[in-house]
Amino acid sequence: MKIPEIPEAQYNKLVSDYERKTAKSKKLHEEAKKYIVPMGVHTYTTWHRPYPLFIDKALGSRVTDVDGNAYIDLFLDNGVSFIGHNPPKVREKIAKTMEKYGIHLQLCEELQIEWAKKITKHYPSCQKLKVVNTGNEATELAAQIARAYTGRNIIIKLQGHHHGWNAVLSYDALVPGTGTFFTKGIPENHWENIIAVPANDIDGLEKTIKQNPKKIAAVIMEPMGEGTGSLPLKDGYQKEVRKLTQENDVLLIFDEVASGFRVALGGAQELLGIKADITCLGKHCGGGIPVGVVGGRDDIMSVVGSLDPKAEHFGPVFPMGAFCLHPLAMAGGIAIIEELEQGNYFKNATLRAEQLVKGINKAAGDLKIPLSASNTYTVTHYSLAIEYNINDMDTAMAALNFNQMVRFGLLLSDPGAVVGLPGNMYICGVLTEEDINKAIFAFENCFKLFKT
Ligand SMILES: Cc1ncc(COP(=O)(O)O)c(C=O)c1O
Repeated sequence: MKIPEIPEAQYNKLVSDYERKTAKSKKLHEEAKKYIVPMGVHTYTTWHRPYPLFIDKALGSRVTDVDGNAYIDLFLDNGVSFIGHNPPKVREKIAKTMEKYGIHLQLCEELQIEWAKKITKHYPSCQKLKVVNTGNEATELAAQIARAYTGRNIIIKLQGHHHGWNAVLSYDALVPGTGTFFTKGIPENHWENIIAVPANDIDGLEKTIKQNPKKIAAVIMEPMGEGTGSLPLKDGYQKEVRKLTQENDVLLIFDEVASGFRVALGGAQELLGIKADITCLGKHCGGGIPVGVVGGRDDIMSVVGSLDPKAEHFGPVFPMGAFCLHPLAMAGGIAIIEELEQGNYFKNATLRAEQLVKGINKAAGDLKIPLSASNTYTVTHYSLAIEYNINDMDTAMAALNFNQMVRFGLLLSDPGAVVGLPGNMYICGVLTEEDINKAIFAFENCFKLFKT
């Protein structure tokens, strides 16, 4: 099937309309491009042609750009703002903490204990925690802890699974089978100790483990599937991996940076009834302030050491960081977890995600756009409903172009809708039925721009 395109003359007309509507964003983007790479944005998730919006205000499920146009935010800071932008209780707790400690304090304070109790309560597999600043740091550290604890070097990951951009795990990330495609700048020999195996193939995983006796430190995976469920795992696969790793004395690392506190309070582990040996968390468990967490069994986590030779824990893994255990992340995390414990966010957000998926699929079907939406709980995705191979670069680029055009087209409605790339949407607990209907309307209008 052909990948739909917006004819060039029509695209140029749409760009003129967009420039009129977002003149201030255009000007700011010209400035940003002079200083910030890539193309004046933070990464591919916030870039789209002809230029991205600059935001003036963010509240609840809405963002307003610098020209005063409102949008329904289905991107939500890459999933960080699960209860919407600027939630009052989180903001108040952070403000009170600032009054007390200032903006940062890297000495011990009580909030750390309260926050850690909450995390360990909802993630019973995490008896001890090491707190860092991002999910990317957490997964890198998890691999280091697994290697130090087992005395082995190889980590097995699932093809396409994303664990950040670090030089330890970014091999074969984002798109299954791409190997080192996204890792230029990292020496090839860095990957000697990583093996990427296809997801859902338990026999293949078993064979890899058996072929490398006493060499595998851990298996790491996104437990809801690549991109937090954009390519879901087969029912029962995670349990099989748990059994296999236990039987072969290999650690299991669940990267719950995206699924943690999102698919359920206790993340994928609660839903699946599985305990990982090591868990990575991040995103909104700092209430919007950067945070990353590695949690695990007491004995495993005891490899994280201090520099006091007489202390219980002396080495051999020394993660550090001027911002670790940041008091504002502790405050924000406590406030958001309390809110999630009391509210009905998971159920509401999942219902809204299902409504959105249904609406997008109907609009795509009616307008003969080969696009298919799906959701894994609140995480929602759309992708081209055609098979293409990443090695066929022309088709892969046409698919990427289509995706960029959808993101652009969604901004042209009133209100428009903001989504992430590639086709990722994080549905927050405060989106209403009406918001979703408006978002579906924006998808319908967007699909009408394409020639199939
Ligand atoms: C599953 C997963 N792991 C790790 C990361 C990296 O986290 P961060 O962006 O906080 O570095 C992400 C980010 O999207 C993620 O989704």
